[in-house]
Amino acid sequence: MAAEVHSTKTRLCLCVFGVLLSMIPATFSLSCNVPDLPCLCEGPTQGSGDHIEYHRITCFLTGEWNVTIGVIPLTRSLILSCSHGGNGTEEPADLKEDLFHKFAGVLQNLTMRRCKIGNLPTEIFTDLILLQRLLLTSVDLNGERLSAIGGIKKNASVKLYSNKLHSLNSDSFGNYFSNVSSLDLYSNSVQEIGNGTFAMFPSLRKLFLGNNTISVVKEGAFSGLQRLSELNVRGNPSMFDGSWCLFKNVPFLTTLDVSFTGLTNATQFNCAPLVHLRRLLIHDNNLTKLDGSVFALMPNITFIDVSNNDLEYIHSSAFHGGLNGLNHVDMSGNHLRDFPILAFESTPNIKSINISYNYLRVIKKGTFSGQASLQTIDLSFNRLHTIDMFGFVALDNLTMIDLRHNNFAIFPENVVWPFDIQPPHIPIKTFLQGNNFNCGCHWMFYIRRGEFKDTYPFFILSDNSTWTCKAPSPVANKPMMTLPLEDFWCPYYNDEACRRGSCECYSRDVDEANVFFCNNNTMHSLPNFPANTFMFECDGCLIDDQVTLQVGAFQASARLTFLVLQDIGLERILPGALQEFPNLQQLDVSYNVLNTFSDDIITNLTHLHTVDLSNNRVNSLSSNTFATNLNLTTVKLHSNNLKTLEDGVFNSTTYLEVLTLHNNPFVCNCSLFWLKQWLQSHLDVVPQLYDVKCYVNSSNPDLYPIIQVADLDFGCYNPDVLTVQEYNAVIVTSTLTLLFLMVGAVTFRHRRAIRVILYTRYGFHVLHDDDDDDVVLDNVRWEYDAYIAYSDEDIQFVLENIIPILEDDDNLRYKLCVRHRDFPPGGCIATTIVTSLEASRRSIVLISRSFLQDEWRLLEFKTAHQRVLKDKRNKNLILVFLEDLTKDEMDDDMRYYVTANAYLSTTDRLFRENLLYEMPRRPLGEIHGDVDER
Ligand SMILES: *[C@@H]1O[C@H](CO)[C@@H](O)[C@H](O)[C@H]1NC(C)=O
Ligand SMILES: *[C@@H]1O[C@H](CO)[C@@H](O)[C@H](O)[C@H]1NC(C)=O
Ligand SMILES: *[C@@H]1O[C@H](CO)[C@@H](O)[C@H](O)[C@H]1NC(C)=O
Ligand SMILES: *[C@@H]1O[C@H](CO)[C@@H](O)[C@H](O)[C@H]1NC(C)=O
Ligand SMILES: *[C@@H]1O[C@H](CO)[C@@H](O)[C@H](O)[C@H]1NC(C)=O
Ligand SMILES: *[C@@H]1O[C@H](CO)[C@@H](O)[C@H](O)[C@H]1NC(C)=O
Repeated sequence: MAAEVHSTKTRLCLCVFGVLLSMIPATFSLSCNVPDLPCLCEGPTQGSGDHIEYHRITCFLTGEWNVTIGVIPLTRSLILSCSHGGNGTEEPADLKEDLFHKFAGVLQNLTMRRCKIGNLPTEIFTDLILLQRLLLTSVDLNGERLSAIGGIKKNASVKLYSNKLHSLNSDSFGNYFSNVSSLDLYSNSVQEIGNGTFAMFPSLRKLFLGNNTISVVKEGAFSGLQRLSELNVRGNPSMFDGSWCLFKNVPFLTTLDVSFTGLTNATQFNCAPLVHLRRLLIHDNNLTKLDGSVFALMPNITFIDVSNNDLEYIHSSAFHGGLNGLNHVDMSGNHLRDFPILAFESTPNIKSINISYNYLRVIKKGTFSGQASLQTIDLSFNRLHTIDMFGFVALDNLTMIDLRHNNFAIFPENVVWPFDIQPPHIPIKTFLQGNNFNCGCHWMFYIRRGEFKDTYPFFILSDNSTWTCKAPSPVANKPMMTLPLEDFWCPYYNDEACRRGSCECYSRDVDEANVFFCNNNTMHSLPNFPANTFMFECDGCLIDDQVTLQVGAFQASARLTFLVLQDIGLERILPGALQEFPNLQQLDVSYNVLNTFSDDIITNLTHLHTVDLSNNRVNSLSSNTFATNLNLTTVKLHSNNLKTLEDGVFNSTTYLEVLTLHNNPFVCNCSLFWLKQWLQSHLDVVPQLYDVKCYVNSSNPDLYPIIQVADLDFGCYNPDVLTVQEYNAVIVTSTLTLLFLMVGAVTFRHRRAIRVILYTRYGFHVLHDDDDDDVVLDNVRWEYDAYIAYSDEDIQFVLENIIPILEDDDNLRYKLCVRHRDFPPGGCIATTIVTSLEASRRSIVLISRSFLQDEWRLLEFKTAHQRVLKDKRNKNLILVFLEDLTKDEMDDDMRYYVTANAYLSTTDRLFRENLLYEMPRRPLGEIHGDVDER
């Protein structure tokens, strides 16, 4: 068994590998002119014959690479990449002292990758007097053989990263002074640095010790590095565990990177003067506070990055101490709740301050004051809700304030007006996206009307097109700048219920109409509101139920346009109770216990466009219910107790866009037959169409989608009405007439939809050649009705949608080939795909992003596509898009195919119908006369 699996895998691998290989040119051109030398030689720069000297040679060596070096021509730059052919056990090569002797006087740069070095003889590089760059990476250097490095006399850069150096001390680099100027020990395993380790490198300017596991640094570790200007110890998480005052021996540092070192106490880097230091990177540590004058020992500092620490506190004199050169400070990603005032009083040249991603709430008076050089302030991603008067003042060169993602409810005007007194040199850009704006309050209204721009031309609201409203709730998440002016509401407290907090109350900015939202469950009766009331929403606002809504139950105003009375236990609405509100446009009485909704309740409310009666107990509606409401666009009747509806109830609602009917216990008898027909002609109006269900006869407790109940089952055998057959004939004829009219005169685009509907509703195939021919001619060929190609991630869709539509339907039982179920265990996948596809009448390809990323799935598509091209039968391939993809994301063949052919999309409301239409008319089981039992 294991052997079998293995052999399948090998076969697959070989075939994939073969494809890859065939993409690489068979031979690769070598310009070295040395037989069997796997090297690329670039640009002979001078000489000829044996004395030719190349600019650069790159070799890919295996086996005895230390011997091969002998035949490599002269070059200025040599790159040796070793590979071990998967051997893994290769012993380190033994290097002779004169290995590079022939390159002396020529070689400038030497790179070795993965060439295991056994013994690095002390004198090996001494000949290479021009060597300026040595890079030995992943060569298993382990720290005992580094005297050769010390032997380099040139002012060279030496990189030894990704090796196994673990402990360094004063003997590591030998006993002779070296001139190396840059040493990079990045990504080794150095744990300890002993006294005087670098004493032999008096010329060293840059030292990189990043990404090691240094935990012990002896007191004199950096002694002798008199010229060191750049020190990087980033990514040593225990660096400061047992070490103290590390940098006192390196007074000439200009750049110090101690990020990701677990630093907890600023005194650890701050114990000796670093008067030349300009850049200090102490981000991503665990500092909790910055004490007063903490940077005073580095007076020439220009850049401090203390982001992503745990700072909770910054002393108001933290940046004091004569930091005249300080330009940039980054304090983002800390835990600051508060920021001291006058912190930048003695940093006259500060240009940018970043305090984003903290927990600041208030910017106090004087926080940013008198900084003549300050250009940008980033306060984004805090919790700011207030900027005190004079929080920003006298900032002559300010160009940008970032206040995105804070908690401002209204525009922080205190930022703006101080500049009115003394306008800035160039306009200031402000960013405020992601705040919780209350779109209503006069300031916002003022900005929305464009008046802000005229009053404060020196302030640019750069991102106002992205501002969204957080409140009032009806406009939540809407873009503020395009919100209609009527939707700007400001809090209003003139009413008792508003003052008590029972209701959220607003007054509309354009006309001062009132808006009330009472959702708090705190009132004993419906309140009386002032004459200006325009919208009243009560969602469970009453302590006790209001059983009956009577005439004059509450007084609002003739202006009332929106009325919501949800969840208040209403059982009855008396005729006339709503007649005081002739301007009502939207009525919502959902989540009550209404049994009836008599046809005079909304009579003459001619402006009404939305009625929501859902989630009540209404059991019938008369045909006159909506007779006078000609402008209705939305009617919600779902989740009631409706058993029937009178024919004609929707006759006057010609503008209906949404009608919900699901979740009612309809009974499909002759008096509801009209509803099936109505649904058929209003497919787009009724969401959850297949959940509009009914009982078909009293003995059967199951509910069926009304739209699928057979006409006969409505039992309309009354001689006064048309027989079902007659009825169908009328429908088909009239639909056909319509079809020809449309095809002939109107539009070509809907042709397919009409065919689909005619087919799935009436079994009527139009202009669709009879595909059962091929079954009759060649019926032994087929094993499946359809092969389903899908990615592993979409298996759920296959199980929940494709199989129920095509296999589980009692009328049309197709036989599908579904990989997870029907593939023989252990077979070669590629062969199985091809044979199964060939044995299927249709290939249904379910395309999603994960499909496109899977090579096996693309193979399925390509095989199916090949078959279509070969047989010239496009209908054999059915493409179904599970998500919207742009053409750029598609495979070339696929892009080409969808441009020329129809495809299905699961977002289409008629997806099921479309899919059935694309299938062969009769399943194999039916043709062969056996109903397949699996
Ligand atoms: C792998 O190692 C063996 C000996 O252990 C050696 O004979 C063989 O040449 C090596 N293969 C390669 C590709 O280096
Ligand atoms: C050697 O390396 C340095 C630094 O990367 C580079 O500037 C120089 O051009 C290289 N010299 C040659 C001959 O490749
Ligand atoms: C190359 O390395 C091998 C194995 O360590 C050693 O036996 C041989 O002497 C070395 N040859 C040269 C030319 O350095
Ligand atoms: C840091 O070192 C570890 C172990 O040596 C290595 O796995 C990792 O890739 C290195 N990180 C970087 C950023 O080089
Ligand atoms: C470090 O080494 C120097 C010279 O080798 C010596 O003078 C000094 O005492 C040593 N310091 C420590 C702490 O061992
Ligand atoms: C930092 O170290 C200094 C000196 O040892 C000590 O006085 C101070 O309390 C420490 N601060 C913190 C926060 O641990």
